Amino acid sequence: MTVAEMRRTYLSKATEALQPSVTEEVDNEVKRMRQNGIDDIVSLGVGEPGFDTPDHIKQATIRALMRGETSYQPTKGAFALREAISAKLDAENDVKADPEDIIVTAGGKFAIYLAFQATLEKGDKVLLLDPAWVSYESAAQMAGADVIRVPSVPQNGFKPDLENIKGAIEPGVKIIVVNSPCNPTGAVFPRDTIRQLAELAGDNQALLLSDEVYEYQLYEGQHYSAASDFDNVITVNAFSKSYAMTGWRLGYATGPKDVLEGMLKIYQHSTSCVTAFAQYGALDALTNEASKKVVEMMQDTYRVRRDLMTDLIKKSEFLKLGCVPEGAFYCFVAYNVNLPSFDLAKRLLQKAHVATVPGVAFGKCGEDHLRLSYAASEEDIREAFRRMEHYFRKIK
Ligand SMILES: Cc1ncc(COP(=O)(O)O)c(C=O)c1O
Repeated sequence: MTVAEMRRTYLSKATEALQPSVTEEVDNEVKRMRQNGIDDIVSLGVGEPGFDTPDHIKQATIRALMRGETSYQPTKGAFALREAISAKLDAENDVKADPEDIIVTAGGKFAIYLAFQATLEKGDKVLLLDPAWVSYESAAQMAGADVIRVPSVPQNGFKPDLENIKGAIEPGVKIIVVNSPCNPTGAVFPRDTIRQLAELAGDNQALLLSDEVYEYQLYEGQHYSAASDFDNVITVNAFSKSYAMTGWRLGYATGPKDVLEGMLKIYQHSTSCVTAFAQYGALDALTNEASKKVVEMMQDTYRVRRDLMTDLIKKSEFLKLGCVPEGAFYCFVAYNVNLPSFDLAKRLLQKAHVATVPGVAFGKCGEDHLRLSYAASEEDIREAFRRMEHYFRKIK
């Protein structure tokens, strides 16, 4: 018997315990099916804008590449980009962050990973709303921490229930995560609620991690950045959804100095920096006036698609929308088919060639729900609903 055969696995226990990201698995499965020649899949599964990156951003990146922006950048990010992020945070979010207190990361996801790695250890806890974006729990787990989940319910528009959250606070809670606009529910949290969560975190010597990656996908209400009023806040944002740049892997974070210093050390020893020329595309996204029009166009388009999807849900015998999404680009729908969400999503993909994400991927409270993305064309949304309704009727 070889050494390899004698070992059950080479993986650490911690890695073995990690669950794969369901959203990425759905996307990979769609790509695999397409690769195998199944070319009629309609995807409401993806969490990315249904747009290409605007041309002016691509052109700026090509120019940067051709003038030789190809070497290591400061780990925190190119200075000009951090200056532009600092100006954006000041002008749009009323957040005062010196360029030295900003870290440009490989997507918002890596900023969250770094923040958790830098601050959490065994015995610490992260408080999440349930349902919550798929990667918070795994990021906490990778840092050795546990997660406490507090349900947010459709009757309450999936908004945080402050009394329940206060009741769930226990020794060891080090981070409360706020994600507004929220993936997967589309809820936009009231300013007062976010303020109270930041205060609650402060009263418990904890941090608020404010994940604002859907800031520009906002259809009702106003965006509020807790870091404008509180200093125990790590703000995470990204270019991914804002400028249709998911594949570029560009995000950023700002927060308390010691947290940033910790994040930076981990970053220096793991990734060094984000791709140099891509950072100049991000700089153009922030500084070129043409971006404003594109952001507006995308927001208007998503609003139309949201209205279309909510209308189709209202007409469905099988789907029920707990609350109309106010932001992001997802409808989080309950269904009355007698199957766990994982099985239903799998069957919809295999039998109806419609990709969705099972609600349970976002936590126990997400069971009996599907997340449907309306970052798809109107034609695709209509076709997906035709197929889903047909399939539901067949299996009922
Ligand atoms: C709530 C939320 N936070 C963070 C991210 C990560 O964004 P990025 O693609 O910039 O890493 C996502 C991506 O889907 C998300 O939905």
